This record gives sequence, C-alpha cells and structure tokens, in this order.
Amino acid sequence: MRLAVISDTHGNATALEAVIHDLSDQSPDAIVCLGDIVMRGPQPSECIHMVKSLKPLAVIRGNYDDKFTRFPEPGWVPATYKQELVLRAYEYDCERIGKEDQAWLANLPVELSCEFEEVPTEMYHAGPNTLVNIVYPWATLDELDTLYKHENTKLVLYGHVHHAYVRQGKGRLHVNCGSIGLPFDGDNRASYAIVDFKKRDIAVQLRRITYDIESALAIAKARSMPDIEAFEYALRYARYPYDALKQLT
Ligand SMILES: [Fe+2]
Repeated sequence: MRLAVISDTHGNATALEAVIHDLSDQSPDAIVCLGDIVMRGPQPSECIHMVKSLKPLAVIRGNYDDKFTRFPEPGWVPATYKQELVLRAYEYDCERIGKEDQAWLANLPVELSCEFEEVPTEMYHAGPNTLVNIVYPWATLDELDTLYKHENTKLVLYGHVHHAYVRQGKGRLHVNCGSIGLPFDGDNRASYAIVDFKKRDIAVQLRRITYDIESALAIAKARSMPDIEAFEYALRYARYPYDALKQLT
C-alpha cells in the first residue's frame, strides 16, 4: 500500500500543482494532508480546492488553518512584527476564502490514528495535543518520543516545522514530510513524502519537486498580496523569513 503525505501548502498553489503532477507518476493508493493549507501565500482558496480534489483519506487541521478560522475579534492589536504579518495575511485570506471553505477548515480534525497494512500509525500537524509545538529534525530522542499517544504505534507522521526528515525514534519511525509551499530547510523545492507499506515493513521517500517560483511570485504581485517580501525571501532561500526581514525594517 502506497501513501502520499502532503502538508503546509500555505496558499502556494503553484507548488501544489507541481506536487500533484508528481503524484500522478507515483500513483499512491491514498493521500493524507497534514494541514496549514492556507495563510502566507497568494492562492489559499485554490489550495483548498486542489487538496479537496485529491479526495484525501484525511485532512488534519494546522495551526494556520486554526488561526485563520479562530482569529481574535476585530480591534485586536498585534503586539509583534510577526503578529502584524499574520493579521495582514488573515485579512488577505478572508477576502478569498468562501464561507463554506472557512467552515470546512474550522472543523478539520486535529489528529488521526489508523493502521496501514499492519502498521499502527498516528498523524498530526505538530504533535499530540498541540498545533504549535516544534520538534525539529535534530531533536533529542526524548523530544521525538513526545510525538505519539499510543504505545503500539509504529509510525508517526507530522508536518509544521517545514523541515523534511525521517528518523527512527524509541520504537517507532518519525516522518516529517516537509512543506510544499514554504520549505524552511534550505531546499526551495516543494517537499512531500511517499510511504510504502508491505505488511509490517515501511519504506519512505522524501520527494523534492522543482516548481516555477517566479510564477508563484508573479501571482502574489498581481494580487497585491501583503508582505510579499517575506514570501519571496522564503520561496527563494527556503528559510524562515521573519527574523531576517525584521532586521531590514
Ligand atoms: Fe506551516
């Protein structure tokens, strides 16, 4: 059984389109999406519709999907530079995501446990009982060991940190599929994972897909997306943009 794991499109439909093209070559039996479909990129609505068109087995809610649908009341004043950016991204997405899709995002589950072949698997955006906790690829084994709920689980899938990796933890394999729309691991190609199951055996591919970054930036410019310099920095360098840009402003 072949499973595709996609995550963190963040409104970058150009990157998602390239991944969908690659998926047609990989022919997975099922697809799961681990959240952060919207916010920070120019085409949030298109990303929602493209993810839905894949008829995924599951879509998990990410912290940005959650933030978008549960944003503070009008009048809330951002306290930090990053909060200012998030508020502008929220206002941009509000104009582009229909009410039905907003409700769909708001009601996505935050976790899924299931079995693929004979492999008990857990899926999260960031981890159990959290949408925001960060466990990087270089985490200690003890930190990795916080990413599951059930003792018999053999595979943990998550996204959120925008760094793709595969690591054996204490008795289970941890796979982060990376980010399609905003990788932060220094490789500016879109990232996703293919997991092949054969009874209890697991084989993982981390796939990196080249896409037209200039086209994604042109769409953002044509739509007057706010804070386009942060988007451009992230797309070109595949690095977390906020710290670098704050120093420029
Ligand atoms: Fe994300």
